[in-house]
Amino acid sequence: MSSPKTPNVKLSMIPLFSADAIAERVRELASQIDKDYQGRELLMIAVLKGSFLFIADLVRAIKTPVVIDFVRLASYGSATQSSGIIEVRKDLEMSIKDKDVLVVEDIVDSGLTLESLRNMLLNRQPASLRICTLIDKQAQRVTDVPVDYIGFSMEDGFIVGYGLDLDERYRDLPDIRVVEGV
Ligand code: IMP
Ligand code: MG
Repeated sequence: MSSPKTPNVKLSMIPLFSADAIAERVRELASQIDKDYQGRELLMIAVLKGSFLFIADLVRAIKTPVVIDFVRLASYGSATQSSGIIEVRKDLEMSIKDKDVLVVEDIVDSGLTLESLRNMLLNRQPASLRICTLIDKQAQRVTDVPVDYIGFSMEDGFIVGYGLDLDERYRDLPDIRVVEGV
């Protein structure tokens, strides 16, 4: 019987960032964030679904007091390419007015998702708004949306694992791999 973990089409995957390398980088980001937000409380926003593992590890490494909320965005397009049309599927439950907000993303690719989220959040008048992404993918960038904390940079290629999916699969992999032929 085929299961979601063994789809019929066999894709080839090449390891890119190991679980250890990710854990190490998360610790470094957390200590940078702690330095920058001393004495303040952070409102961290996870952009679902891709950032669920990243934010789970990040909040446990950060010593600054945090509150956490979630937003779910959907971008129309193919499985591997963003269209730039963003829909809010699930909005925040908390008010961000006068709060120090840190958005936690999985990947900034074209930057269109993040740009529209950033504009939406700025309209709600946070005290500050910064962005943290696990992966900064530069080849397809079409916006100059500012990213304050970057886990790893890469030029191009489609990756899965550690929260990142290909058509909802492979989010559960503990490391990040490049999918060949996408
Ligand atoms: P953007 O609007 O083009 O920046 O798209 C960003 C979103 O597309 C990310 O938050 C991911 O959900 C998804 N995405 C972009 N590249 C990849 C990838 O290589 N693997 C998995 N998801 C990706
Ligand atoms: Mg995403």
